[in-house]
Amino acid sequence: MSTRGDADVYELPMKPAKTEIFPGHPASVLTFGGQFIGPTIRAKAGRTVKVKYINQLDRAATVHLHGGHVPPGSDGYPMDLIDPGKSRLFEYPNRQLGSTLWYHDHTCSKEAEHVYRGLAGFYLIEGPDERELGLPNGAYDVPIMIRDGRFDENGAMIFEPSPMPTMLHANGRIQPYFQVDARKYRFRILNATLHRIIELDLGGQEMVQIASDGGLLPAPLSRTKVMVVPGERVEIVVDFSQQSVGSKLVLTDVYSGASEPILRFDVTRQSKDASTVPAQLRALPALPEATNVRDMKLSFSPSGEEFAINDKTFDPNRIDTQIKEGTTEIWRITNADPAETPFGPVNHTFHMHLVPFRVLDRDGKPPLPGENGLKDTVLVRPGETVRVQATFSGYRGRYMYHCHLQEHSDIGMMAQMEIV
Ligand code: C2O
Ligand code: CU
Ligand code: CU
Repeated sequence: MSTRGDADVYELPMKPAKTEIFPGHPASVLTFGGQFIGPTIRAKAGRTVKVKYINQLDRAATVHLHGGHVPPGSDGYPMDLIDPGKSRLFEYPNRQLGSTLWYHDHTCSKEAEHVYRGLAGFYLIEGPDERELGLPNGAYDVPIMIRDGRFDENGAMIFEPSPMPTMLHANGRIQPYFQVDARKYRFRILNATLHRIIELDLGGQEMVQIASDGGLLPAPLSRTKVMVVPGERVEIVVDFSQQSVGSKLVLTDVYSGASEPILRFDVTRQSKDASTVPAQLRALPALPEATNVRDMKLSFSPSGEEFAINDKTFDPNRIDTQIKEGTTEIWRITNADPAETPFGPVNHTFHMHLVPFRVLDRDGKPPLPGENGLKDTVLVRPGETVRVQATFSGYRGRYMYHCHLQEHSDIGMMAQMEIV
């Protein structure tokens, strides 16, 4: 990193590397900076970050900052790729609230494979309010990227279309352990899997949710199970102070009914803890009145071989939605796919670039726990209609919206809006 004027500037090569997801079994992966979980970029709200992405891969690629409020030329448009041997400077103004973002490849129809093979990393924006709140920080603020994979007997990754069963791994390792002090930690959890809904369980230990995609919630929410869907982030504070030194807690996914270990926390020493989770975190911005309502139907395409939004598969030459800059809209997002298919229910997770939204309701009923903050990715279950509301301000240009099950967006479940 270097500092130039009022910006922090990074150079990030995209390049192949070997990593040991299973210890002792080197596997070929695609990386940012040679690391299987790309380096974590820490930004401050209001201070610009510029990243020069250098493509040292054997294929074209591009990078999207998921959750970023960025100019269209830095959004990683899926057709506007960085060719091998070329580089491009993206600018992230960070004129947005503190939150947990992530950067990942967004190459048209190759995104699922590229992200699966490794092209993803964390990008954290710290808001000026966060230090004052006294939340755990520094070494006690830890991002955890949960991904999934299929592996052959040598530990090599196999990329096959869904819905083949996969194994979860965290921060680049299968079932890693993490040594913790007997105190509070802030964990920023990202579901970067291809298509797995994850329900986190820590053996009954309380997990206090403090944030979702768009940053801090108005107030903390005490939970013992936390759902996180592909593309989504949740932040939790876990207090290990009631655990005796030597105890081990396993974070598992219990969504399917069975329990699959993700990682283990080993409590290794007593510790002082001056951090707190205040009863009030961050007030939500006002919700301006919506002046337009749109329907977004997510479903198999009419041919049944692709996925579509409003019966159309992605076409870069078509603007699907034109929006006047500064206006507020309600989008009614419906999952029109059946609950019963040979592969089980087909869920979708709807994601919008450029701006966060609020989840208004689900089939007229209140949103799920933890969905009361700012969000950019939302689960839409079979048959369900979720209403979200967003204000499209800040930049003009073309931005994507799509299902964040990247295998769905790769085969059509993606569209573009033009802010004018
Ligand atoms: Cu995380 Cu358009 O995606
Ligand atoms: Cu995005
Ligand atoms: Cu989908």
